Amino acid sequence: MKRYLIITFGCQMNVHDSEVLGGILSSIGFRPASSEEEADIILLNTCSVRKKAVDKVFTKLGRLAKLKRKKPGLILGVVGCTAQQLGEKIIKRAPYVDLVLGTEREFGIADLIPRVEQGEKVVDITMAGFSPEPPTGCVRRGSDFQAYVTVSRGCNNFCSYCIVPYVRGRERSRPAKSILKEVRELAEKGYKEVTLLGQNVNSYRDPDDARIDFVRLLHLVHDVPGISWIRFITSHPKDFTRDLAKTMKELPKVCSYLHLPIQSGSSRILALMNRGYTKEEYLEKIGWVKEEVPGVTLSSDMIVGFPGETDEDFKETMDVVEKVRFDVVFSFKYSPRPFTKAAELPDSVPNEVKTARLIALQRRQREIQIERNKELVGKELTVLVDGVSKRDEKAVSGRTEGNKVVNFKGGRELIGEFVRVKIIRAGPNSLYGERLE
Ligand code: 5AD
Ligand code: SF4
Repeated sequence: MKRYLIITFGCQMNVHDSEVLGGILSSIGFRPASSEEEADIILLNTCSVRKKAVDKVFTKLGRLAKLKRKKPGLILGVVGCTAQQLGEKIIKRAPYVDLVLGTEREFGIADLIPRVEQGEKVVDITMAGFSPEPPTGCVRRGSDFQAYVTVSRGCNNFCSYCIVPYVRGRERSRPAKSILKEVRELAEKGYKEVTLLGQNVNSYRDPDDARIDFVRLLHLVHDVPGISWIRFITSHPKDFTRDLAKTMKELPKVCSYLHLPIQSGSSRILALMNRGYTKEEYLEKIGWVKEEVPGVTLSSDMIVGFPGETDEDFKETMDVVEKVRFDVVFSFKYSPRPFTKAAELPDSVPNEVKTARLIALQRRQREIQIERNKELVGKELTVLVDGVSKRDEKAVSGRTEGNKVVNFKGGRELIGEFVRVKIIRAGPNSLYGERLE
């Protein structure tokens, strides 16, 4: 029996694509391998959002080259965003790679494996005519109670720093009919939580029925019996509406959690980033959400050191950190990316300045996070248990509706269950609780 291993880098979109790839490989007779040594085919599902993500791919490939020398029949494949970005160049730099498939070709892998097994090197990064419909018939999901469901693929926003529209193509929404079919099947199998995935879920529009926008879609998913929690990522502030904030309140299954990337607090930089909103507009939208959904968990993405970012611009970003008091911020140093508009500008902020800004932001955010989490001490919350705690094998770990990680004493039998927990301690990244009977 032949075995496959998929190593995933990057975002939830990639995590889910790997689940689909696993399903496709299973459907042609492969079984999952439990180690690299055991695998007959290893796929790297790659990210290219920052240069570091691409470097990681080549570091990993270098290690796998050694394995391949010991096991010459091993097939090494690269799929996903770096595959799309570099194509042939991957084989130039790493000649032991057998297969390179771009984001719109990777689901065709089943037909290509026989050719690779014959010794042919296959590269296909064509982008055209690809439907947003994942081959959902055979997904090998990583969990039997939490599931990702694609609502759209690709992106039309062209933020000036971002490679995604170039490596994932134009935005295509998936028909609501087929999204709902997938959600119903998940509910029938006992899934409890679904996360709707799209590069910008707020611009969702059913290709078969233009009346179905994202708010309408949430209502339709909400009507599916059996699913208890609905999450969605990622939202784009320019398309986030008051109506959506109200919908989060009205629909009890929609979790009180919003990831709303701001990227910068400076309206001047936001314009250069082509984000389509100002600092004030962003803060106004956050105001709607806080008003409609009291206690909502808020997270964001921020970039420091965009070309031309001054100390004043950075102060504006820190001001948003103070004003919003996010529960989590994912912050990054600006990294120039090929194809993008911003890459034509000089990467003018010195690395030391980027580092200093990143440290200042993360230090302050950490303090706020501790304060935010401490506000939950004494509260009784529902947790969907998703695994054994990393630090204590007699404890389990899960997430609240607000996406906060909670650890508490309990056994493996709780995995996949909703459990009521009283919060007794809080750290910057997680909470500690006690199970309530
Ligand atoms: N440099 C640094 N960070 C970036 N991101 C996207 N492109 C870049 C880039 N060129 C960040 C954004 C985005 C997150 C997924 O990655 O904050 O929201
Ligand atoms: Fe995800 Fe973007 Fe990275 Fe691709 S480049 S894996 S879409 S974060």
